[in-house]
Amino acid sequence: MRREDVLISAEALERQREIRRQVMEHNARLPVQPLALVDTYGCQQNEADSEQIRGMLSEMGYGFTEDEQEADVIVINTCAVREHAEMRVLGNVGHLTHTKRNKPSQIICLCGCAMQEPHMAEKIKKSFRHVDLVFGPHVLWKFSELLCQVMDQKKRVFETPDSPGVIAEGLPVVHKGKLKAWVSIMYGCNNFCTYCIVPYVRGRERSRAPELILDEVRQLATEGYKDITLLGQNVNSYGKDLGLDMDFADLLEQVNAIPGDFLIRFMTSHPKDASQKLFETMARCEKVAPHLHLPVQAGSDRVLKAMNRHYDRAAYLDEIRRLRALIPDIVLTSDIIVGFPGETTEEFEETLSLLEQVRYDALFTFIYSPREGTPAAKLPDPMSREEKNRNFQRLVDLQNRISAEKHAAYVGKTLRVLVDGENDDGRHTLTARTDGGRLVHLNGDAALIGTWQQAKITGSTTWALFGELVLD
Ligand code: 5AD
Ligand code: SF4
Repeated sequence: MRREDVLISAEALERQREIRRQVMEHNARLPVQPLALVDTYGCQQNEADSEQIRGMLSEMGYGFTEDEQEADVIVINTCAVREHAEMRVLGNVGHLTHTKRNKPSQIICLCGCAMQEPHMAEKIKKSFRHVDLVFGPHVLWKFSELLCQVMDQKKRVFETPDSPGVIAEGLPVVHKGKLKAWVSIMYGCNNFCTYCIVPYVRGRERSRAPELILDEVRQLATEGYKDITLLGQNVNSYGKDLGLDMDFADLLEQVNAIPGDFLIRFMTSHPKDASQKLFETMARCEKVAPHLHLPVQAGSDRVLKAMNRHYDRAAYLDEIRRLRALIPDIVLTSDIIVGFPGETTEEFEETLSLLEQVRYDALFTFIYSPREGTPAAKLPDPMSREEKNRNFQRLVDLQNRISAEKHAAYVGKTLRVLVDGENDDGRHTLTARTDGGRLVHLNGDAALIGTWQQAKITGSTTWALFGELVLD
């Protein structure tokens, strides 16, 4: 991909800004401020995209609401990674026929990965006639114009062009909170794991220019953000398309050098590209969180090959060993798919034994979901749903035991935590996160939210830690 084809031109972005200015003028003359609701499904990339959608809506003069009855514009940002996520979206969109009946001027918009799948966009067109606007991830930057088209022309708009992908810089952003922020460093994926829809809907890998990423982090640090996550489908491929002699580890080092009191996280890392240089950089950089999300997906070499993952069990375990040699208390998390087509229960048991070997702190576990257009969806899949469910339960039970044991080992330790919010568990007033990302329930004054504190861990469960503030 040529860089000039990837970058949306300054003129095109200025045109969108001009449209937003005009809508803002129009909205400012209304007797009450119009309201928008943005609902997000799926991964952090979608969360980051929704922050840009909120940014564009805010520049157009919209306020925000959580109440779908009073919203003038509803945007639902969808996920395509599993069928369950798509079904949930369709259910919720179906339910909006009622809100629109009460408020016929309401504009309903659907965007995100599921809308980039032709069969989903078609379904919305035919069967969900109350939806006014459907747009895919490649035209997110044009949202203001598309929304105007719906309002001015009073017709439904469908814009889901196929594209290897673009980069639109300088879009406005409204962050959800004041502590945690996402920074996209690259978009798309080139890996084509055989089960995964992402490369088809998000396009090819393309990296943002390092200076723009560094500017953004600098700005967030100045504004007081404490927990900054660098995002990409496979951050370890960062820079390969830039021709700059710079890789993800170099970027991490440069982000770490930005002055300020913040923690750097990143996701997702693909094990095939997680380098020794990355591990050494993580160990050296004091702002980089001692946490690595390194999705293994399966423990059997045959299944890993059928998934097109480009590593085997031994290579993965070797990475974990080298990482732990450098950062002994690293928090490790992973994604696992149970029931990939053709996976036998013996092969699944290799996933269980891998869990015993690695001892992850936490896992994201999924039952395989066939995605139309992916190679795995064409494979024979003889295992019954009941057997997959049974295997899934065994996986969850094992991980719960390991998580509980790992959490119990924190008891008695005093750790740095970031107090990040009020607690609604009825017994504690605050929530906090360790540098490794573990949830801690605490009691203390709400004025501490947004500060680093020392917490003595006094108890634990499978899912969380309990602690007391050590105030000096
Ligand atoms: N079925 C089940 N899980 C999937 N994932 C991706 N595609 C599928 C699918 N078709 C999981 C992988 C990935 C995570 C984000 O979602 O584990 O790492
Ligand atoms: Fe999907 Fe694999 Fe790309 Fe991750 S690396 S987004 S699982 S194709």
